[in-house]
Amino acid sequence: MSKLVTIYGGSGFVGRYIARRMAKEGWRVRVAVRRPNEAIFVRPYGAVGQVEPVLCNIRDDASVRAAMQGAEAVVNCVGTFDAKGKNNFDAIQHEGAERIARIAADEGVARMVHISAIGADKEAESQYAQTKALGEEGVLEHMPGAVILRPSVIFGSEDGFYNRFASMSRFGPILAIAGGDTRFQPVYVDDVAKAAAMGVTGAVKGGIYELGGPAVATFRALMKEMLGVIRRRKLILNLPFPVAGMMAWGFDLAQTLTLGLFHNSILTRDQVKSLKSDNVVSEDAAGFAELGITPVDAKAILPDYLWRFRPTGQYDAIKESAGNLKA
Ligand SMILES: NC(=O)c1ccc[n+]([C@@H]2O[C@H](COP(=O)([O-])OP(=O)(O)OC[C@H]3O[C@@H](n4cnc5c(N)ncnc54)[C@H](OP(=O)(O)O)[C@@H]3O)[C@@H](O)[C@H]2O)c1
Repeated sequence: MSKLVTIYGGSGFVGRYIARRMAKEGWRVRVAVRRPNEAIFVRPYGAVGQVEPVLCNIRDDASVRAAMQGAEAVVNCVGTFDAKGKNNFDAIQHEGAERIARIAADEGVARMVHISAIGADKEAESQYAQTKALGEEGVLEHMPGAVILRPSVIFGSEDGFYNRFASMSRFGPILAIAGGDTRFQPVYVDDVAKAAAMGVTGAVKGGIYELGGPAVATFRALMKEMLGVIRRRKLILNLPFPVAGMMAWGFDLAQTLTLGLFHNSILTRDQVKSLKSDNVVSEDAAGFAELGITPVDAKAILPDYLWRFRPTGQYDAIKESAGNLKA
């Protein structure tokens, strides 16, 4: 019998890459999520029965415990941007993370990998960052040997960052952003998965690792690069924080007034607060170097999945090539 790892949130953007890596390494993988029926796409990552989605809500002790029965290691990939509702910051990023660690310690699980985020800080202005710090604290209290990964913004074909802004760029002459001067260090999703897999197998010692890609750039510069990849010319409008705050307040209010029928996935007030701080690896932090991983540059990957946002999609390259022939 091969070893078993339970990945909470294993159907999400990051979790599925970790699930795929662990299956390739021969582990049995249990993907613990609220909607296992929407996670069946993880099954072909391994042989028949090797990767199984199971029902679990990390807000509930019993289902968290049931999902880790027999597991050698657990990974927590569940996060949220919601300040309100049942799946809110505190319930997920603080209590949920701590719950998994507490039950893992109780069940004698050997190792835990927890995905946090750069900027995790109890004193931060944003609740996202505060609850990430509280979650880390809760995890370390119960599983002191845990591997905690703090990525910067993560890119990859299913990301919610480049895909979202590339999609927005299809309409109108302006691309509006907030925090244009804030610096990011985009990191490739499979590099984060590599680091997590090392934590699962015990190839790396416990501790906090900050994960950033090879390049640091402002939000505005990242958008400029993205526009180059999708071959669109737009005016990048950097909204002042008070204006962005007002807009976010409006979107949050719309969500409250519609009792959640409209879900604010555009811009929340908490995101505006986060955007005020740089999102880069700190100088004294352990990171990819300590893990022996050479991170991939976004330049090498972005054209692979952003081509669909070009004015004529996949035909752009053919048109360009035909144009070159005429010249
Ligand atoms: N994406 C980034 O750029 C980025 C950057 C820094 C840090 N992070 C952190 O990395 C982690 C993974 O992010 P992601 O982008 O992969 O998130 P994601 O795509 O939103 O995936 C979230 C996963 O968690 C599951 N989930 C949500 N609520 C749950 C609950 N109550 N109980 C059990 N499962 C639940 C979801 O499945 P169901 O909906 O079916 O339950 C899904 O599988 C998060 O902690 C995030 O904060 C992400």
